[in-house]
Amino acid sequence: MKISMIVAYGKNWEIGLNNQMLWHISEDFKNFKTITSGHHILMGRKTFQSIGKPLPNRTSLVLSSAGFEHEGVYSFDNVQKAFDFARERGEEELFIIGGANIYATLFPYVDKMYLSEVDYEGEADAFLKEIDFSSWDLAEQKDYEAITNNAEIVSPAWKFKVWVKKD
Ligand SMILES: NC(=O)c1ccc[n+]([C@@H]2O[C@H](COP(=O)([O-])OP(=O)(O)OC[C@H]3O[C@@H](n4cnc5c(N)ncnc54)[C@H](OP(=O)(O)O)[C@@H]3O)[C@@H](O)[C@H]2O)c1
Repeated sequence: MKISMIVAYGKNWEIGLNNQMLWHISEDFKNFKTITSGHHILMGRKTFQSIGKPLPNRTSLVLSSAGFEHEGVYSFDNVQKAFDFARERGEEELFIIGGANIYATLFPYVDKMYLSEVDYEGEADAFLKEIDFSSWDLAEQKDYEAITNNAEIVSPAWKFKVWVKKD
């Protein structure tokens, strides 16, 4: 089973504030939905609570050491148990979807990264650890323009990149 990570981050590696996202980019959400649909998605308890419900067409796995329960999700107190669960159900690509704590802990297991680099700088309390791309190959890139309304940026510019770990 391949382990993939999907994340959107700002210029200073910021990913969240007050358990919320920092921007609204509808094309990025659509992309996230397309990429993760049909797969098992693994997240920390705080990210699940920020989303608030299981995402449709995906199997939600939530990590929590405190016996977290919620209808429609599978909860695990240990990373390996979550990986084994997905593997035993025939998953071929498990997606790690955040947050900061989970990305940091699980980064060593990641084989493929789907990254949205957002042209955004601002206050944050959740960050991605800086990634050293020297051990990764860029497999795909697409650049998106900002969306403006009366010269005000309503949706920042962003670059979508797919990286595959070098052998
Ligand atoms: N920009 C993006 O793409 C993106 C994506 C996702 C999330 N986010 C943002 O990230 C922020 C949340 O990140 P966060 O670091 O605060 O929280 P988090 O990673 O979502 O969740 C942390 C919680 O996960 C559980 N956990 C972590 N490691 C575990 C392990 N090894 N075994 C069992 N349980 C474990 C613990 O839950 P218990 O306390 O219950 O034990 C821990 O408190 C929010 O601001 C959110 O909006 C951004």
